[in-house]
Amino acid sequence: MACDVASGVPRGVAVTIEGVRKSFEGGRIRALEEISLRVEPGEIVALTGPSGCGKSTLLNMVGALDRPDAGRIQVGDVEVTALRDPVEYRATTIGFVFQFHHLIPTLTALENVQLPLLGRGIARAERVRRARELVAEVGLADRERSSPATLSGGERQRIALARALALDPPLLLADEPTGALDSATGAQIVALLQRVRAERGTTILLVTNDDRVALAADRIVRLRDGRAEEGAVTRSVARRSGEA
Ligand SMILES: Nc1ncnc2c1ncn2[C@@H]1O[C@H](COP(=O)(O)OP(=O)(O)O)[C@@H](O)[C@H]1O
Ligand SMILES: [Mg+2]
Repeated sequence: MACDVASGVPRGVAVTIEGVRKSFEGGRIRALEEISLRVEPGEIVALTGPSGCGKSTLLNMVGALDRPDAGRIQVGDVEVTALRDPVEYRATTIGFVFQFHHLIPTLTALENVQLPLLGRGIARAERVRRARELVAEVGLADRERSSPATLSGGERQRIALARALALDPPLLLADEPTGALDSATGAQIVALLQRVRAERGTTILLVTNDDRVALAADRIVRLRDGRAEEGAVTRSVARRSGEA
């Protein structure tokens, strides 16, 4: 079940994917044949597989950016595939990090992190306070006034992660978050993801083509020919739950 996190509050949700299929262009491109996968609360699962095997398609469907042709996806107690209006689900349950940071270039780092907090009835001072905390959490307190253009690739990705965590989502979806970084910088992002899970209990579904990144996960699931194959279990969730 949910892991023992330092705060004592397990935030992560389970993800259940059952018999999901997806094709594009009237069935000509069969991206996912039949995917079933269960991710436990607070688990870090790495999705790997060759380019074009449907990793992003699957992640997008878990994040309700797209819909499967068949099958069901459940995240916590939300039946994602039955949602008529996924806007609130996307805002509060999911944090998304992509290969490229998608920060707004005309805003400072701190303003970018505040974006998900806008329009939610949170007073400005409180928004700033929370955003400051998040920027500090990713180790960039001294760069909060910087514009994205003046940050390094790894720093931008850390700010993108802070923004994804603004509403403390129980599920983080990361699509090749280290794909545009050198390996040392990528390792920092991976260490940060592990700390997020340890401190917040966040469930993390991570797409990566980098074996070193995948080995940092609890479990590796490989997509091949539109189907999921279990890979090496690097650490069992059950054992981690028993650790102090
Ligand atoms: N919106 C789309 N329209 C048409 N084809 C798509 C679309 N999105 C993805 N595909 C196709 O679906 C397959 C899986 O893509 P994708 O999920 O992006 O793979 P991966 O992330 O593993 O590289 C590829 O053949 C890709 O070209
Ligand atoms: Mg992809």
